[in-house]
Amino acid sequence: MRGFFITLEGLDGCGKSTQLERLAAALSQRGLAVLATRQPGGTEIGTSIRALMIQQHSRLSPVAEVLLMMADRAQHVSDIIKPNLEAGRIVISDRYIDSSVAFQGYGRGLEITAVEALNDLATGGLLPDLTILFELNREAAQARLATRTEKQLTDSAPMTGFDDEQHDFHQRVQQGYWQLAARHPDRIHCVDADGSVNEVHQRVMALVLERLQELGVRS
Ligand SMILES: Nc1ncnc2c1ncn2[C@@H]1O[C@H](COP(=O)(O)OP(=O)(O)O)[C@@H](O)[C@H]1O
Ligand SMILES: [Mg+2]
Repeated sequence: MRGFFITLEGLDGCGKSTQLERLAAALSQRGLAVLATRQPGGTEIGTSIRALMIQQHSRLSPVAEVLLMMADRAQHVSDIIKPNLEAGRIVISDRYIDSSVAFQGYGRGLEITAVEALNDLATGGLLPDLTILFELNREAAQARLATRTEKQLTDSAPMTGFDDEQHDFHQRVQQGYWQLAARHPDRIHCVDADGSVNEVHQRVMALVLERLQELGVRS
């Protein structure tokens, strides 16, 4: 079996980490080999970069921020994502290339083509087989964030650094995600993230199973 690469994207609080856990468990239960990971932070180096980004959030320039994200991504691809895909596993990552384009590009105003070139350098051109973009309006995502437990807070940090950003920052990120989805309709699929955890999980499973079948991966 060939590997299969899934990434989860969307605003902070839309439910990515919750759905990643559910998806990984459901696929494992079907006997598939799954590796769940996240960006930033999937490697030891990435964990240090993540901690640095949280600590220095208010002082990081947009360019320094994107380069740290890319350093994390490069290490993550070479140490974790590639080897696991080569071993035939399903790799699911909480955030990947589209987060940098949406947050640092559209959100912070860095040139989109520059961010894309950096993504390409960091990943060696490795694209996901499927990207799930969770759609939830900013107000609902914000309300969910307020319900995070202590553990979820520690787990989810660096993007949480963006919580205190102005409303139009998140507007721009949201619109950036939509533009990405419009530009890459074969790869990026939107899932309505409004509804119970179970309801959203069913939507995610339907999409993933369909895509696995298309690619001939046994499920
Ligand atoms: N479908 C849902 N309905 C209600 N609350 C949810 C749902 N999905 C996740 N949550 C809760 O919302 C908060 C944010 O979810 P999380 O998965 O951490 O989002 P993200 O990883 O996208 O930032 C958590 O407290 C989580 O338990
Ligand atoms: Mg999260």
